[in-house]
Amino acid sequence: MEIPAQTGDLPFGSASKKDGGLCWKYALAKDDKIFGLGETMRGINKRGYVFESVNTDQPNQDESTKSLYGSHNFFIVFGKKTFGVFIDYPGRVVFDLGFAKCDELCVQIERADVDIYFFTCSKKAGALKEIAREFRTLVGKSYIAPKWAFGFCQSRWGYASKDDIEKVWKTYRKLGFPLDSICMDIDYMEDYKDFTVDSKKFPNFKDFVQRLKKDGTRLVPIIDAGVKKEAGYSVYQEMIAGGYDCKKKDGATFEAGVWPGDSVFADFLNPKAREWFGKQYKALLDAGIEGFWNDMNEPALFYTKENLKKTFVQLEQFKSKALDVTGLFDFMRIANSVCNNKDDYKSFYHKVNKDDAGSFAATKPDKDGKVLVNHYDIHNLYGYNMTRGASQAFKALNPAGHTLLYSRSSYIGAHRYGGVWTGDNHAYWGDILLSLQQIVSLNLCGFLYTGSDIGGFNANTSRDLLLRWTAFALFTPLFRNHSARGTREQEYYQFENPKDFKSMVQLRYALIPYLYSEYLKAAKNDGLYARALAFDFSDDKRACAVNDQILIGNEIMVAPVYVQNAIGRYVYLPETMTMVEWKNGKIAAQKKLSKGDHFIEVPMESVVFFVRKGKKLPLAKAAPCVDKIDWTKLNFVGDPKASYELVDLSSF
Ligand code: GLC
Repeated sequence: MEIPAQTGDLPFGSASKKDGGLCWKYALAKDDKIFGLGETMRGINKRGYVFESVNTDQPNQDESTKSLYGSHNFFIVFGKKTFGVFIDYPGRVVFDLGFAKCDELCVQIERADVDIYFFTCSKKAGALKEIAREFRTLVGKSYIAPKWAFGFCQSRWGYASKDDIEKVWKTYRKLGFPLDSICMDIDYMEDYKDFTVDSKKFPNFKDFVQRLKKDGTRLVPIIDAGVKKEAGYSVYQEMIAGGYDCKKKDGATFEAGVWPGDSVFADFLNPKAREWFGKQYKALLDAGIEGFWNDMNEPALFYTKENLKKTFVQLEQFKSKALDVTGLFDFMRIANSVCNNKDDYKSFYHKVNKDDAGSFAATKPDKDGKVLVNHYDIHNLYGYNMTRGASQAFKALNPAGHTLLYSRSSYIGAHRYGGVWTGDNHAYWGDILLSLQQIVSLNLCGFLYTGSDIGGFNANTSRDLLLRWTAFALFTPLFRNHSARGTREQEYYQFENPKDFKSMVQLRYALIPYLYSEYLKAAKNDGLYARALAFDFSDDKRACAVNDQILIGNEIMVAPVYVQNAIGRYVYLPETMTMVEWKNGKIAAQKKLSKGDHFIEVPMESVVFFVRKGKKLPLAKAAPCVDKIDWTKLNFVGDPKASYELVDLSSF
């Protein structure tokens, strides 16, 4: 339901006006849990901390981080009363989920012009799944990635030439690894100019794309939101000539620095600009490219000249002072505030239809009925609209094709156009657990095609971390090993005994008929591919509190090891399950385990997963690429009496 700006009693909690905005409060019962909020830090149950929706380029995330790249303002309160809440607001929202007061949930929305939806279910059993489904009925069907996008993807920021990429491809093939794609990070472009390919570093690009594709390996280039400001560069020129750029209040083009240096930004909220930007993908589609990742689209702003100028003036004053500790900290705070500065976000505008702008209009309508909206007020919609534009363009430019698309920044609804990856994590053990927690929360918000940078993006990975991470990530739709420039190289062949990694990648391919079927079922039925145990075992108090085991599809439970030097872990089974151990490219053991607690030993080179009671799942023979998997020759694990329904896009 939608609440008008006035305050008063609501189906759950109450709302009041506060500081020009709206504050919704709900009294939490002792055992209430809160699931959702998509891409955020911390556990599956979000209770006990405070989160913010402000899409942020966040390379230094830790447990205290309140906002990441996306804003997903949907959560379910599960307990004494069970209901879902969706706060449809494009700007800053603060979610205090029992932080200031342990038993109070308080959502503070910056302005009162907001739609709040509540979702309920009359039955107790299955209420969590039903509420999640109702929410998706409102926000729309999830994007479906092509099947090959479930294959293994190798990526690294630093592959700078055809030779670099060829080396990755050849080495994996020589070692007999399955491989479906290699990402091309910013270095493939000419001076980081979107939609260009550096022909010196990538001669005969089209041939190269085709040669790899024949072998079953697709190239997946990155596209950044910031477009280099450079006279003669057609994308820049067209953007300015067409008036598709974000502008400042005085009508001048808004400029900020990102990877290419001084850059300009398409006004993705303007349908014409969105369409124009979408058309730019054509050059790469024509070269045979079938997948893209949209990046830096919060948008990340490293600096603006205006802000730099102000900052230099402020820093200059420190020169004449003898710096004490407080002064030094002030100095560093001011210097650090240059990136992604709130004042910069407040300094530019989008042009939208008067009726779409509502109370966000910052100007009177012009002769075409358009008004300006300040970027800050609708900040969280920027990446969403970049992804939306790309997706709409793919349908128009390549109607017969099926293009892979995932984005860093997003908002509720972007799940209709593409997937998301969880951004710049670290090679930290806790980030394996974090990725598990983010994946279920993202699924709840409709984003089914998700995954984390396996092995960690920032910091140096280690062999054991990469093995344990892979053993979990092989169950997630996006299965991509990605790392930052300057970190230890982490392609699987960089470590001793690559066959241990190969065995895990082979399991991924053996599982693809199952994983893709479950993914399609979730997309079709507005269901959840990955979910917390509470969704299927809501009467089991122990299961509802589990924070580090999840269900994948309807047949599997996974419980990854995410502690260094652990020889295994405790696993809680909410029902009898069959434990399956995969080792050396095949099933090494199967054992029925009763409901309850078990210590499960997991050797470093093994993957262990659990098949649920009365269920079985198919395993194919691993193949060099997804297209070569034979879906007709399958073995089954689990209960032989059970049945299993395979679903492919053709039968969709
Ligand atoms: C951003 C992305 C990362 C990418 C890097 C360089 O940090 O999140 O994945 O490698 O930019 O393009």
